[in-house]
Amino acid sequence: MDWKDALPEIVTQPDTRIRFGEPLAKHTHFGIGGETTAYVEVSSIEELAALAHFRRKWEVPVAIIGRGSNLLVSDKGFKGISVGLINELAKLEVDGNVVAVGAGLSLPRLSKVMSKSGLSGVEFALGIPGSVGGALIMNAGAWGSSFGDVVTDVTVMRDTGELVKLTHAEANFEYRHSGLNAYFCVVGATLKLQPGDVGTITAEMKDFYKQKMETQPFTEENAGCMFKNPPGDSAGRLIDISGLKGHRIGGAEVSTIHGNFILNIDNATAADVLELVAYIQKQVREKTGISLQTEVKRLGFDE
Ligand code: EPU
Repeated sequence: MDWKDALPEIVTQPDTRIRFGEPLAKHTHFGIGGETTAYVEVSSIEELAALAHFRRKWEVPVAIIGRGSNLLVSDKGFKGISVGLINELAKLEVDGNVVAVGAGLSLPRLSKVMSKSGLSGVEFALGIPGSVGGALIMNAGAWGSSFGDVVTDVTVMRDTGELVKLTHAEANFEYRHSGLNAYFCVVGATLKLQPGDVGTITAEMKDFYKQKMETQPFTEENAGCMFKNPPGDSAGRLIDISGLKGHRIGGAEVSTIHGNFILNIDNATAADVLELVAYIQKQVREKTGISLQTEVKRLGFDE
């Protein structure tokens, strides 16, 4: 029996859908990437555990792709199961200033609901189009705040399907990095926010958003910042002073607004993007002596 025939057996919830041969370009903000063998939107913890068992039994690669906002998928696609998290896995429950969130929840939605609830701490997240799970793994941040700062514990699932609750310290949050990649899947987290005035919190959230709109591109498809900032500097600034803004390879171009964004301006391929990444790294190294490291995750390149 082929694993594709067996996959529907993990489904117990009415909203869970499986699509075979799904183009991942549809599920990434870059709008780039070939087909995944199967795409599943998982609705419950029970189904996620069944998927963990399925992965071990059939030895099929599984990638949790979240909202695909920080992801470059190969032109050949991904030979395996790509997963989105919905319903129970995208929950948002508020109890005073303690908030339980599912990994599939979108950060902008979290930010908006918290501002309306008079809870401060995630105002910076309105302009980050990723999921809570991605924000936990990458310790996403902007304007001096990082997501890990408001997290008290994180629930992860092991390869065996077992759930484990990690403390803030055990999650090992660092700049754009955490220890959470070691698990099969990040399931959710508990956040502790500060009660505050709805008007003040909303104004701050809007102010961050305005700053983003003024300093970062938003009309063309992109995956956010392509490179990590080297200690004490900005990758965007280094790319800018290296004269690379507007440099184009195929359909991929360095933003003229912020140097750390690569834009898909005209049906760019993943190969165009990687060629441009390598060119930027070489030029910046030659001009400044600094080696830029990529921040955007990759999928489907090592098959
Ligand atoms: N700068 C330039 N030219 C450029 C870009 C920036 O001279 O093309 C200068 C700016 O004028 C400023 C300095 O570099 O003086 C820093 O720029 P900015 O405030 O835009 O911040 P950044 O360090 O480039 C970081 C995050 C962004 C986040 C912003 C705002 C990283 C890799 N980037 O960028 O996060 O939105 O701060 O807080 O940490 C992301 O993670 O995907 C991302 C975009």
